[in-house]
Amino acid sequence: MWFDAYQSDTVRLQYCRRMFANCLRRLPRPLRKILSALALAGTLVLGNAAISEEETAYLFNKECASCHGKDGKARTPVGRKLGAKDLRESKTSDAEIEKQILEGKKAKDGGYTMPAFKEKLDPDEIKALISFVKKFRK
Ligand code: HEC
Repeated sequence: MWFDAYQSDTVRLQYCRRMFANCLRRLPRPLRKILSALALAGTLVLGNAAISEEETAYLFNKECASCHGKDGKARTPVGRKLGAKDLRESKTSDAEIEKQILEGKKAKDGGYTMPAFKEKLDPDEIKALISFVKKFRK
């Protein structure tokens, strides 16, 4: 199963929620409506807790560390190749970080140096990641 490797229940919940949303999109409409109503009721009962530090670290390691490194120093092979910034030296504002995560960064050849995450991460996750990357600063 996809969530076996994850330790915390909250992370598991988060990923189940996303997988569920992905599956829903492929179902016929009436079925989708019933299931999303059930899911909404479930969310209301369980509460939609803020993203924990642990979940954010998990997200960073999964989505960002290949280039930025788990320590934010960007000393990974891909990070070096693409010229990823050392997040400890970063001085960008919250708004700029948000834009960077949402839109990514275009390379001169039209490709991306940093991919855009707007389709992949939801606003809560992005908000959590903004404070997470700022913690690397000295
Ligand atoms: C495929 C490699 C790659 C991945 C994955 C990646 N980045 Fe980046 N990131 C870069 C590169 C390259 C830059 C520098 C872009 C530039 O300014 O030319 C950058 C720049 C940034 C900056 C701006 C730093 C500054 O001071 O200008 C932030 C913040 C950032 N990344 C956060 C993230 C976060 C958060 C994630 C995960 C959601 C992520 N990155 C995933 C390659 C990556």
